Amino acid sequence: MTTTTTGDDQVAFNDRLLSLSLARVSEAAALASADLIGRGDEDAADDAAAQAMQYVLGAMEIDGRIVIGEGDVDDVETLFVGQELGTGNGPAVDIALDPLEGRTLAAKDMPNALAVVAMGPRGSMLQAPPIYMDKLALGPGYPDGIISLDMSPADRITAIARYRGCDARDLTVCVLDRPRHEALIGEIRATGARVRLISDGDVSGVMACADPARTGIDMYMGLGGAPEGVLAAAALKCLGGQMQGRLVIRNSDEAARARQAGITDTDRIWSRDEMIRDDVVFAATGITDSALVKGIRKDTTHISTETLLLRSKTGSVRRQSCRRFRRPA
Ligand code: FBP
Repeated sequence: MTTTTTGDDQVAFNDRLLSLSLARVSEAAALASADLIGRGDEDAADDAAAQAMQYVLGAMEIDGRIVIGEGDVDDVETLFVGQELGTGNGPAVDIALDPLEGRTLAAKDMPNALAVVAMGPRGSMLQAPPIYMDKLALGPGYPDGIISLDMSPADRITAIARYRGCDARDLTVCVLDRPRHEALIGEIRATGARVRLISDGDVSGVMACADPARTGIDMYMGLGGAPEGVLAAAALKCLGGQMQGRLVIRNSDEAARARQAGITDTDRIWSRDEMIRDDVVFAATGITDSALVKGIRKDTTHISTETLLLRSKTGSVRRQSCRRFRRPA
């Protein structure tokens, strides 16, 4: 068990207990957004989820500090990077969160919207700036370093097909459906591999690599938010699988944001374990359905959620369902 110091006391990072408490954090965010699913107002859904997540994190027995949050202190009022949360009495922890990952998906009632939160001992998580990251992810069971961001997309697919003894046509790569990925998609398809396009939600896309039998996705490639990259790395550290990320700096403002986050080597490729440097716990509650976790269900009297609770130390995956009375509107 990792031990951290708060004041004169040594407080253990008890990942078993924290993991269970984390269920309430992502659950609260998901429930708060429930009435706003499919109503076309991303901001309202995100705000509701963020307020609820802040409330539950605030009550936790932790000395928490947000490393991956909703934005910088100047840009958002709730859950900003650097914000301290919790009673201050527990272990000193880093928190990475996204109360509503896939705002547009929730607003349009499309698959893959999640409420996610990860926690690790203080100093365990990379503070990634709010810019793009080039991401590459692969599920468990492959030799370390079998593919890398330095290889071309075609070479990565060839390496995996060769290792598996299969044809490139048997592989599926998940990619965000964006004009910036036109060349990437073309190159992947030219190998014969399939492309699963998603309109948003690359945390879910990366997590899907961990269970190809369930999701049909073998690899994830392409540019998405760097903060979401760190969240996805935390999930994959728990689920098993490889991930790399490299920041994408397009202008001087983004370079300044990277410097502000303490990153000077902007060409660096960050491995999963360089983004997440210690054992962590991770919770994801489905807002809308995804291959890995069910979305919110309602009937006339009850509302139900499903939450995945993950621990990197043991690789344990708990699936927690919760059915409760609906609150009167
Ligand atoms: P939000 O929930 O903040 O809207 O992010 C959704 C998302 O699709 C992420 O999963 C992804 O990393 C990022 O947006 C991609 O950014 P962009 O929409 O600029 O391509």
